[in-house]
Order: sequence, then C-alpha cells, then structure tokens
Amino acid sequence: MVEERKYWLNGQFISESMAKVPILTHSLQYGSGIFEGIRAYETPKGPAIFRLRDHMKRFVDTAKIYRMNLGFTLEELENGVREVVKINNLKSCYIRPFAFYDDDHVGVGTTGKKVSTFIAAIPFGKYFSEADKGLRCKVSSWHRIDSTILPIQAKASGNYLNSVIAMHDAHESGYDEAILTDRNGYVAEGPGENIMLVKNGEIITPGRESSILLGITRFSILKMARDMGFEVVERLIHREELYTADEIFFVGTAAEVTPVTNVDGIEIGSGSVGEITSKIRSAYFDIVQGRNPAYESWLTYLN
Ligand SMILES: Cc1ncc(COP(=O)(O)O)c(C=O)c1O
Repeated sequence: MVEERKYWLNGQFISESMAKVPILTHSLQYGSGIFEGIRAYETPKGPAIFRLRDHMKRFVDTAKIYRMNLGFTLEELENGVREVVKINNLKSCYIRPFAFYDDDHVGVGTTGKKVSTFIAAIPFGKYFSEADKGLRCKVSSWHRIDSTILPIQAKASGNYLNSVIAMHDAHESGYDEAILTDRNGYVAEGPGENIMLVKNGEIITPGRESSILLGITRFSILKMARDMGFEVVERLIHREELYTADEIFFVGTAAEVTPVTNVDGIEIGSGSVGEITSKIRSAYFDIVQGRNPAYESWLTYLN
C-alpha cells in the first residue's frame, strides 16, 4: 500500500485524507492566505533545507503585516518544517507553510476569526520545463502591484492574482513566462521570481525601491556573485534594457536560476544560455546541494 502523505496542521500530523477545509473557507473566498515556498535538497549529508530561518521569518513577518495570530513561535514553525520533511521520507522537496482563516462564513472581515497553519512537503522537480534551454518571456501589459495597493513584501495569496493574470496573458500569447513592470514602466520581477540582467559583465537587478518581493534567492545570488568577483548593481531598470542585455536570468526558490533567452520576440545576447548565467547557476546548485562548505550556514540538515 502507498503511504499517505502527512501534513503538519496546527502542531499535529494528519494524513492527506483527513486534511479537509470547509468549502466556504475565508482564505479560499477572499485570497487571505499567507504562505512560504522553501526547498530542501539532497546533499552528501542527507536532506538540507535552504535558508529555513529566513523563509520562516518572512512567514512570521507576513502574518504580522496582516495581523494574523499564528499561535506558534518561529522555532515551533521551523521544527514543523523539519518534521514534515522527515515524516514524509523526502530527500528533496518543496515545502509550503500556509496560514489561513479557518472560517466558513460569508463576509470579508477577519476580526476574531480562527487562524490555522499547515505545512506541506511534496516532491518537486524543475519549476520551468524549459529551465535548461532558456525561457521566452513577454513583458506583461499588467503592471506589478505595489505597496500603495497591497504589501508587496508580504507573501500573501491575494498578491498572486497579479501574477496569475500576467502569466495567463503570457501563456495565451505563446510565451513561457511573464515579466512585470511597475506602474512607471520600470522592470519589476516575474510572477513568482526575481529577475537579473547581465550587461558588460555586471549583474543588475531591481533594488529595494522597486515593486518586488525581495527574494531570499535574490539575496543569496547577490552575495554569491559578489563573492565570485562579479560587479553587482541594484537599481531601477528601464524596459528596453531587457532587450539590449547580454544575458537575463530569473532567480527564486521555485525557479532556482533559470535563463531567459528571449523577451517580446527579441533574442537576448546570442539567444542561447549566457556564460555568466551558467556560472551562477552551477555555483547555486553547488551551494544548495551541499558542495560548497563556505555557505553551510544557509543549510539546515535534518539529521
Ligand atoms: C513574486 C515573487 N518574487 C520573487 C520570488 C522569489 O523569492 P524567494 O527567492 O524568496 O523564493 C517569489 C517566490 O517566492 C515570488 O513569488
């Protein structure tokens, strides 16, 4: 018999068949869930979770922004993540902590509503099937939301409607992925990943002033790239700089490091995966898969 997947729910483990929510759950109706996306990788010392503390801090911060009382400490939640990977016997996986209003009434208000938190861990491969050969992207006509509309630093379900509509638009037009610009037309990010450009050997990415989720992978890549001796610049990026970049790549927990070889039908650089992108990509996998001792502090081993 195939073992049922187990989830952590409010501090207890439950089997998949027992994991049920009422159909009128507030977060399902109104997009009021908050979540994280974390990866664990197989390493020579067993499974290791990448930057667990940073992810769970963001989860707790998102809850704070939305005034959601999780009822668990950072340490308890981190423990839940470790345990859920262990109990499901996963060597590498995607981990999804998620908090939601566990309530089945119609009505937008959240005051006094019960909050539940689950943590799921599932086998997960590449997010983009075209990750090795490079993506064809479309600059979306939908702009990225910003903090005047919704907290952009919060990882909340509702933010992802902006991503869904941009992605749908790109897919319908025959592209692999969307690139969103902010309300002033500056490059922001992908629907679920940050973006980096390479121009004359420099790595350029939108900075804190941009309408982006300041991704944990983004920070990791910037640190790693500086350590590798690359010049790294965080600044506003004009849309047309995408077309004239030597290389472009996406970075994110799901996306990892994914080359972009075409934007709006225009080939980027030579139109194939760039040299710097390849270097960054393999250095990233060395780190997450435990082959670079200099970055051990980013890994949480299960054993
Ligand atoms: C909109 C958006 N931007 C960027 C990222 C990358 O963030 P991280 O590297 O923390 O996964 C994500 C993924 O979580 C995202 O959803």
